[in-house]
Amino acid sequence: MTIGTALTAKATRALLLGSGELGKELAISLQRYGVEVIAVDRYQDAPAHQVAHRSYVIDMTDIEAVKKLIALEQPHFIIPEIEAIATSALADIEAEGRCTVVPNARAIQLTMNREGIRTLVAEQLKIPTSKYAFAQSFEELQVAVDSGIGYPCFIKPTMSSSGKGQTMVKSPDQLKAAWDYAKSSGRVDTGKVIVEAKIDFDFEITLLTVRSLDETGAVKTDFCAPIGHVQESGDYRESWQPQAMNEASLKLSQDIAFKVTNEIGGLGLFGVELFIKGDAVWFSEVSPRPHDTGMVTMVTQKQNEFELHARAILGLPVNTDLRGVGASAVILGGVDAKGVVYDGLAQALAVPDTEVRLFGKPEAYIKRRMGVALATADSVDEARSKVLKAASLVVVKSAS
Ligand SMILES: Nc1ncnc2c1ncn2[C@@H]1O[C@H](COP(=O)(O)OP(=O)(O)O)[C@@H](O)[C@H]1O
Ligand SMILES: [Mg+2]
Repeated sequence: MTIGTALTAKATRALLLGSGELGKELAISLQRYGVEVIAVDRYQDAPAHQVAHRSYVIDMTDIEAVKKLIALEQPHFIIPEIEAIATSALADIEAEGRCTVVPNARAIQLTMNREGIRTLVAEQLKIPTSKYAFAQSFEELQVAVDSGIGYPCFIKPTMSSSGKGQTMVKSPDQLKAAWDYAKSSGRVDTGKVIVEAKIDFDFEITLLTVRSLDETGAVKTDFCAPIGHVQESGDYRESWQPQAMNEASLKLSQDIAFKVTNEIGGLGLFGVELFIKGDAVWFSEVSPRPHDTGMVTMVTQKQNEFELHARAILGLPVNTDLRGVGASAVILGGVDAKGVVYDGLAQALAVPDTEVRLFGKPEAYIKRRMGVALATADSVDEARSKVLKAASLVVVKSAS
């Protein structure tokens, strides 16, 4: 791999489609190798815009807008950070062969819609998942639940992330409201929802899995230590690494992650979400990119998930070794306001072995992730209690 000098004709250019907090850290990792980074989002001054060489605001679901920008910037790598993207434009660009879509256009297409990846994993790869069905009307949903899925179950838009539009339904009287919510809150309305039986798991993990090139140029797969996490209304609040688990379920988790990422192909880091109960493991979903719960690796691994993604994409060697035990906790907006101010950073950082990242989002919402606290310790319990303390000390306030 030859890397050119950024901002010259020989530059190695990476175009980030989506410029949130994960994109921001990835932009920094890429820039450390001299890559020219172009950050794109649907709003101005997104986190990665603030650290990129150039930035753009476009509607990333608009095929023509995406193609026009790619023609203008001629990136070597297109790195999607979010799911709501004009994926057909990426397939066309990939077919032209002038740049690499990370990890590949099919992966982006498969994972942007829950139907694509779920059908592939459950029906083609025969990997255990929750019982599921897709419904295009409330009547279809009702039939699916009554004829086998049962209660409790989860209703989700087929295109959504961070728990948006998702409800856990415990009884028949809640089904209609869940349908209406899913229909109105998906990132893009595909007209379909997925209904999944609730898995009664002991805990859930993200298994960060990296496909990179070895010294002979062959693809190899490495796994990070499992990351445990807590979700609230489908959105991540806390994560820690390593999640203790028995050998059998870890081995099975790695087998599943290998099969899924091997089927998807390409180079890069993937976040494989799995549910664990005893020795049993169920696949839930996969991100073909760094994962929000993986932010903990900024303090726990020799190479964090952004560094691993950057290296794998560039064809550089990777190391997934753990450096130590740690935890992360999100800092939510708590207010609906633009240009907020942050208090308590000094108090938060006075908690030993902690770090804080503030993403710099121009607008806060009550449940919007504005920052993350990170902590290391000798044990997961200790790291979690330190990090929760640090996160709670950061106060987000409206400016007025
Ligand atoms: N079938 C299920 N059984 C049990 N818990 C579930 C199920 N589906 C979702 N959840 C819970 O909701 C969280 C978010 O669901 P997920 O499908 O990962 O949505 P998103 O794409 O928004 O992250 C999961 O991490 C898990 O805690
Ligand atoms: Mg998820």
